[in-house]
Amino acid sequence: MKTIIYYFTGTGNSLAAAKKVAESLGDSGLVPIASLAKTADTITPAAGRVGIVCPVYFSGLPAMVAAFSERLDLAAADYVFSVVTHGGGGGSAALRQLDGILIDKAGRGLDAGFAVSMPGNYILMYASPAGEKRDRILAAADAELEAIAGRIRQEEKANLPHAPLTRLIKAVMYPRFRSRVHGEDRRFTVTEACTSCGICARVCPAENIEMVDGRPVWNHRCELCCGCIHLCPAGAIQAGKATEGRQRYRNPSVGVAELERRP
Ligand SMILES: Cc1cc2nc3c(=O)[nH]c(=O)nc-3n(C[C@H](O)[C@H](O)[C@H](O)COP(=O)(O)O)c2cc1C
Repeated sequence: MKTIIYYFTGTGNSLAAAKKVAESLGDSGLVPIASLAKTADTITPAAGRVGIVCPVYFSGLPAMVAAFSERLDLAAADYVFSVVTHGGGGGSAALRQLDGILIDKAGRGLDAGFAVSMPGNYILMYASPAGEKRDRILAAADAELEAIAGRIRQEEKANLPHAPLTRLIKAVMYPRFRSRVHGEDRRFTVTEACTSCGICARVCPAENIEMVDGRPVWNHRCELCCGCIHLCPAGAIQAGKATEGRQRYRNPSVGVAELERRP
């Protein structure tokens, strides 16, 4: 295998991006970062080309991705890249955060980093784009990812995008997010519409949801990916009034089964 791509995803955008890049490169393997979260060991990729694909959270990295990046051993890597997906901004600060962690812990940074705009999924704050608008964003992302894969295939070295305003926003928003993230599930409730299917528990990348008497119970290891809210087929999971009546989102090229944890 020439390329290994580690990915984190809540609603499928980042997995769709990882799949698209892997398919375009060929000879690539995909590894969910969530599958490595319970081990404590150093992670040594079994490929010369290494990718990290994840969403942007508050102009930074998801907590689980930051922790994963600290454990990477990249001594044998020839080329290291990242693709971050976002709903509108913050990609440059997230890429710089990742680069900083790798320089600090793995002794080498990213050779290239790319930020791709995809439908925003932060349902606690806004409704995800739907219909034609969603399709337009996804079509543009697809074309961009194809071009990005071409640059990765050439092992192009690229300076990371520089955006001082984004860094400022991150400096304000991100520490607050990180200090509260695992307990944000205290806002989550389940309504009578719950059918006890257990999809919420199986899609949770943090294994944070337990089914108790047929209902989800959150255990305060939340990553705030919003997967449980978006992927509940009954729309039964809410985070207060904010999420009531808001349309749920899943990247259409990723099935629920691909997002479920496998034993
Ligand atoms: C907790 C949280 C924070 C987010 N913060 C940002 C952000 O700072 N900037 C942005 O453009 N999108 C933000 N988003 C949107 C996601 O980055 C975007 O929808 C991403 O493509 C989702 O990827 P996924 O489907 O792989 O989970 C946020 C989403 C969540 C759930």
